[in-house]
Amino acid sequence: MPNIDGNAIAQQVLAEVKAGVEALAPLIPHVVFVRVGDDPASVSYVNKKQKTAAAAGIRSSLRLFPEETSRETLLACIDGLNADPDVHGILVQAPLPPQFDEREVFNRITPAKDVDGFTSASIGGIVQENPAATAACTPAGIIELLRRSGVATSGRHAVVVGRSLIVGKPAALLLLAKGLDATVTVAHSRTRDLGAITRQAEILIAAIGRPGFITADMVREGAVVIDVGINRVPDASRKAGYRITGDVDYAGVAPKAALITPVPGGVGPMTVAMLMRNTLAAARAAAGMRATGPQPLPANHHAVP
Ligand code: GUN
Repeated sequence: MPNIDGNAIAQQVLAEVKAGVEALAPLIPHVVFVRVGDDPASVSYVNKKQKTAAAAGIRSSLRLFPEETSRETLLACIDGLNADPDVHGILVQAPLPPQFDEREVFNRITPAKDVDGFTSASIGGIVQENPAATAACTPAGIIELLRRSGVATSGRHAVVVGRSLIVGKPAALLLLAKGLDATVTVAHSRTRDLGAITRQAEILIAAIGRPGFITADMVREGAVVIDVGINRVPDASRKAGYRITGDVDYAGVAPKAALITPVPGGVGPMTVAMLMRNTLAAARAAAGMRATGPQPLPANHHAVP
């Protein structure tokens, strides 16, 4: 049950991004984070993204708005960032307070600056298998973890549990695309007899948002298990008062898995690394350089039994 080390793989990606950023000099890629309200998880994610940007040589700025901000104010902010040639990437941190229609807000971002990959143009580009389309960071990170861990996907049955815009749907589309060629099943909260489906998975992607939801009896022997969950579970023994756990019951599932991502230290760091890669790509495109599509699998890739 070897772990997939997301921290180590994210460091590799970030080293490549940093080299790409240096090669762009004197242009410095610039990403702007927009945060509305003080959701503790969002505060922590945006902090992490800003720190990682700095380490990769990427400039970042933060636009902060109070919880009660109006739709018009937020849309005007996005319009201003869209028009600013000094800004290459825009990320509006989700979730937004209830007065917002997240779809409207995401779609307001001009596709060239959509480093999150949430606009309908970006999602449509992924459906069309356009190599220049921006893939959402978490699913792109999952694919990169699989590639760099030598997991073959072609013809294999991948089961994605979760159908969100941020993870489930784009992860399914990427796995299905030519080159990766997985046979993909998407399951969700209304799926009947979920275990019967997850037990077929050679590659199981858990993106449900419920701690420990995937138990050992739901996993096929030898499966590759990717745990996307980042759940805060109250824990009085921790200084923060909580601990982070995944959607997979790691202790029960790990002995059955060929490979498994831990939480923390699996998918999480990859999401941030892929955001930096998307920002570099947006800055390169703004500088008139051609987008590079997904790279072929490394020659030494092997099927995990
Ligand atoms: N909230 C949780 N994950 C994400 C993400 O990848 N991007 C944004 N913008 N918000 C999120």
